[in-house]
Amino acid sequence: MKEKLERIKEEAVRQIQESDVPEKLNEVRVRFLGKKGELTAVLKGMKDVAPEERPKVGQLVNETRAAIEELLEDTRKKMEAAIREERLKQEVIDVTLPAKKNMVGHSHPNTIALEEVERIFIGMGYEVVEGPEIEYDLYNFEKLNIPADHPAKDEQDTFYINKEIVLRTQTSPVQARIMEQGKLPIRVISPGRVFRSDEVDATHSPSFHQIEGLVVDKNISFSDLKGTLEVFAKELFGPETKTKFRPHHFPFTEPSAEVDVTCFKCGGKGCRFCKGSGWIEILGCGMVHPHVLEMCGIDPEVYTGFAFGVGLERIALLKYEIDDMRLLYENDIRFLKQF
Ligand code: DAH
Repeated sequence: MKEKLERIKEEAVRQIQESDVPEKLNEVRVRFLGKKGELTAVLKGMKDVAPEERPKVGQLVNETRAAIEELLEDTRKKMEAAIREERLKQEVIDVTLPAKKNMVGHSHPNTIALEEVERIFIGMGYEVVEGPEIEYDLYNFEKLNIPADHPAKDEQDTFYINKEIVLRTQTSPVQARIMEQGKLPIRVISPGRVFRSDEVDATHSPSFHQIEGLVVDKNISFSDLKGTLEVFAKELFGPETKTKFRPHHFPFTEPSAEVDVTCFKCGGKGCRFCKGSGWIEILGCGMVHPHVLEMCGIDPEVYTGFAFGVGLERIALLKYEIDDMRLLYENDIRFLKQF
């Protein structure tokens, strides 16, 4: 029995020394000390030992067990210390290295201007809606009272996907889409990207942004349009700002107008900024044409409305006194950070 225990102990010691990871140590523990382990088997065999021998054998088993346990524990501690040591070595932080700079971006002038416009109109009870950038010719032109042979189509000579589908040339088609939904009254603005085959220069780009406005209700008159845009101009360019409505033509509004505001640089006296006139053109507008209302399922005998369209870049360029539109599309953070 004594020899047997010696052999078990030797074997356990050998296996412990061969273990290189804690998991292997655990396996050894189970193999020798576990419920079905070799030492436990010896204890179970005690019944075959002569009664007077039992205390001695029992003591021997306990000693062997204690010895194996101690070695297991020692080895485990050493192993863990070595592992920790290795990890600390790998995780050394070189505090002398230069820090990584966190690059924080900046809101685009278009975004800042749009948020300002949205704030103003939301304050007047408008909802902000969106429409598709890839649009049916039907919505971009036909439903806005611009039939196939209308000269206004030439002005917006543009990018066709096929005969029926076009990259929208204006945000005005959203008017038709909203009116068709049939929920009245309507009080919305709709910002978004538009496309025209324009050459790139200081004031043109093949892709730019507009903000459309539409109000449809009973008893909406031209004075509502004037009052609304006056408030808008004063909020956007300052309380001194005056507005001027010049008669104009748009196929989808009747009557139509272009709106000028007094130059916020010279207050209307005339300067380089306003090219000496004292006025700056900012948008197109008018009373929604009865044909347009009808085509979109609204009875023009009961309802009237007004609409307007503003160029977002134009607002941003004016408000932040940027003299070249191309700067808006370069996304140079040094430029963006100035606003
Ligand atoms: N869609 C016109 C354009 O792109 C701008 C415009 C004019 C919009 C008059 C309107 C409006 O809603 O009533 O030039």
